[in-house]
Amino acid sequence: MHVIGNWKMHGLRADLAMARRVGEGLPAHAGLSVMICPPFPLLFALSEALAGSAVAAGAQDCHPEASGAFTGDVSAEMIQDSGATAVILGHSERRHGLGEDDLLICRKVAAAVRAGLIPILCVGETEGERDAGQAFDTVARQLTGSLAEPVPAGLLIAYEPVWAIGTGRTPTDADIAEMHQHIQDVLIARFGAAFGAVPILYGGSVKPDNAGRIMALQGVGGVLVGGASLSAESFLAICHAAAAGA
Ligand code: PGA
Repeated sequence: MHVIGNWKMHGLRADLAMARRVGEGLPAHAGLSVMICPPFPLLFALSEALAGSAVAAGAQDCHPEASGAFTGDVSAEMIQDSGATAVILGHSERRHGLGEDDLLICRKVAAAVRAGLIPILCVGETEGERDAGQAFDTVARQLTGSLAEPVPAGLLIAYEPVWAIGTGRTPTDADIAEMHQHIQDVLIARFGAAFGAVPILYGGSVKPDNAGRIMALQGVGGVLVGGASLSAESFLAICHAAAAGA
């Protein structure tokens, strides 16, 4: 079971202590994989702070190129050099807030692979798309547009309905299970059987009180957690729920 904390644009050096508390309080469980993705300025220090613990460090985005005249950007190689092992790509706050399209995200996934990072690819429909009956098509388009063969080592997919992120609303259990099955079907049909083993995480208003239920659903390989990853207590509660169900 994967539990990934996405701190988004939250976190100062003082919050490294909180990450350390997560490392110290983690249940020892072979089937549990835990990661924290802080903002770039904390990535190196967080990797150092978590060294020797079972918590890995990841980034929240990268540029497609390895280096160059790209003011304000950070490459996958720099992220790898900072001690991180993974990078979140295609988060809805970048797709919708910053206009990132599937072609750009596909190049970023390739950059992560080039640098030896695990890509955590986010997909998910808006509320309008769900209401219009287009949720499955939207997610299929995002998957086929953002990935290429062969399957990237360690690839994780996160299904995050845009309308569930930070809202306290979640899809029904049946809707989550149905979409996760759809994602697996699309991956296998488009890219081949090797993609059938890719873990599919759920994200969007995951909290200690719903995490265990969501992770018990068919086809759910873990959770991507925003708000509830910002306190050691709530994030650890979700990790414990994951260990109990793993
Ligand atoms: P949330 O965010 O848990 O605060 O809804 C999830 C995410 O955006 O990854």
